[in-house]
Order: sequence, then C-alpha cells, then structure tokens
Amino acid sequence: MELSLSNISKTYKNGVKALDDVTIDISAGMFGLLGPNGAGKSTLMRTIATLQAPDSGIASLNGINILEDKIALRQTLGYLPQSFGVYPKMSAEDLLLYFARLKGISNKKEREEIVQTALEITNLWEVRKKNVKGYSGGMKQRFGIAQLLLNSPKLIIVDEPTAGLDPAERHRFLNVLREIGTNNIVIFSTHIVDDVKELCTDMAIMNGGKILSHHTPTEGVERLKGQMWTKNIQRDDLEEHEAKFNVISSNFNQDNSLNIRVHSEMQPDESFASSNPELEDVYFVTLHKDSEVVAA
Ligand SMILES: Nc1ncnc2c1ncn2[C@@H]1O[C@H](COP(=O)(O)OP(=O)(O)O)[C@@H](O)[C@H]1O
Ligand SMILES: [Mg+2]
Repeated sequence: MELSLSNISKTYKNGVKALDDVTIDISAGMFGLLGPNGAGKSTLMRTIATLQAPDSGIASLNGINILEDKIALRQTLGYLPQSFGVYPKMSAEDLLLYFARLKGISNKKEREEIVQTALEITNLWEVRKKNVKGYSGGMKQRFGIAQLLLNSPKLIIVDEPTAGLDPAERHRFLNVLREIGTNNIVIFSTHIVDDVKELCTDMAIMNGGKILSHHTPTEGVERLKGQMWTKNIQRDDLEEHEAKFNVISSNFNQDNSLNIRVHSEMQPDESFASSNPELEDVYFVTLHKDSEVVAA
C-alpha cells in the first residue's frame, strides 16, 4: 500500500492558500498528520478522499491516479470527516444494518455478520440497541469508525477524531484506531502531540498549507538529541529570554516560576541544563523554524 501525493496545491476563492505544493508518500500503518488549526489538514484529507479537487498536483494509490479514478478510490476508502451530520433516532445496530444495505451488501446474513464485527471492533456491541443520537462524543466517534469499516476499506482517513473527547474516551478511541491500523493506511489528523506519540508509526507536521517535516516519531526525537536546554526563570524575565534565546515553549511550575525550553545546537549559557527531547519539542521546533522563515 502506497499513497503518493505530488505537488498538490489548493487556493480557496477567498484567496487562502490552504495547500501549498504538498508532496509526500505514505505507506501502510498509522500515519499522524499533526498541525495547528488552519494548517490545511482537513483540506488535505478532503482532497485525498476525492471530495474536493486540488488546483494542481497528482495523487495516486498503488499507482492508480485517484483524482481521475474516483470510483476506484472510493471503493477502498473509509473517511470520517471532522464533523458529521445529525443522526436519526435509530439504534446503532439498525443504523449500521441500514448503511450496510446502502453499500450493496444484499445478503442478510452477511450484513448481520459485518455489522457485528464492526460493533465489536469499536467496542459498541454492548450498547448496540441504544440510539446513536444519545451516544456520548466518544461513542459517536467510534460509531463513525464502525460505519466506515462496513466496506472493509484499505485507506482510512480520520479527521481530528479526538478533538473534544475526555481523556477516557480519547483513550478508548485511540485503542480502536490501533486495532484497525495494521494492514491498512490510516491517516489521522490531530493538533494533539500525545495522540501521535501514543499511536503513530509515521508522521508529518503541517502548517500554512505546507508539509514541514516527515519522519517517524522516534526519528524526530533523535534528531533533537543534545539540542534541548531547560531553565527555570521568573515570569517577568520571559521576554528577555525570548529575545536572547530560541525559546520554543514555556510551562508554569507549581511555585509559579516558568520552565522554559530552548532549542540550540550548543549550550546557550551555563545557566541552562541539557534536557532529553520530547515529541512536543519536535513539534514546536518545527513550527518555530517555519515562522522564522516567514518572518525573514
Ligand atoms: N471552504 C473554505 N473556503 C475558504 N477558506 C477555507 C475553506 N476551508 C478552509 N479554509 C481555510 O483554509 C485554511 C486551512 O483550513 P483547514 O484545511 O480546515 O485546516 P485545518 O483542518 O488544519 O484546521 C484555513 O485558513 C481555513 O480558514
Ligand atoms: Mg480541520
């Protein structure tokens, strides 16, 4: 399985360049697309799902041009949009049986089996008789996955599924994704670094319509080895430090002092201690470098 995107660009009618020459290859496994709001994640995902045409560029799945052969793509696609519509007052099971029929699974027994499997994988079997309308946010997201599993997709696109979920629901949801991500390509967008850290075998960081970096989470962290420095300061001293050093993040300590993290190939000065890089550093350093390029 290989999804290959070359030079994909998209400018909306209002002049916003949401995709700026995106080129990336994605193989089987769990791929995390990490970026802040407005980065272009949803636009990229709608483009891969062929729901929206780019202005230019090529997208292919296993060598098949998916922008031209949309039907071939949609037969293997499972797509969960960032927000989806309201549900009728129907139980999860009935609704899935109905969707399975729409998808052309005409044999009743086959339909029941595929629906049961989808409910089991997404941990909804126990609550299958309940109305989806009354489901919690996390259950609705898992129902969304159950729905897309009905046509055994090979390419699964899930757009910001963990946004708004409480920690327990988020955890359950990530476990469901983990289950389906082995043989397929699962592209999963988020602005939460921990989602990628816990789940993904491959990742890219995106902002301003551009892919800023593409590596495994481990490689990203390795690259920053020996380059992260930390120091506790008073909050009034933050501006001065930001002017002098490459401060990429700051967090309050319990005593109300600030812990700052600085990216530098060498020790900035003796007041700084070396610190092990984290995936969050990778994210902030990458975004920070990009904003410097824009400012220059
Ligand atoms: N239909 C649209 N019309 C105009 N601008 C849009 C539209 N959809 C998204 N945008 C803009 O394109 C940029 C990228 O948006 P989006 O792809 O939704 O990013 P993300 O999913 O990373 O938050 C943003 O500046 C957004 O405001
Ligand atoms: Mg989005």
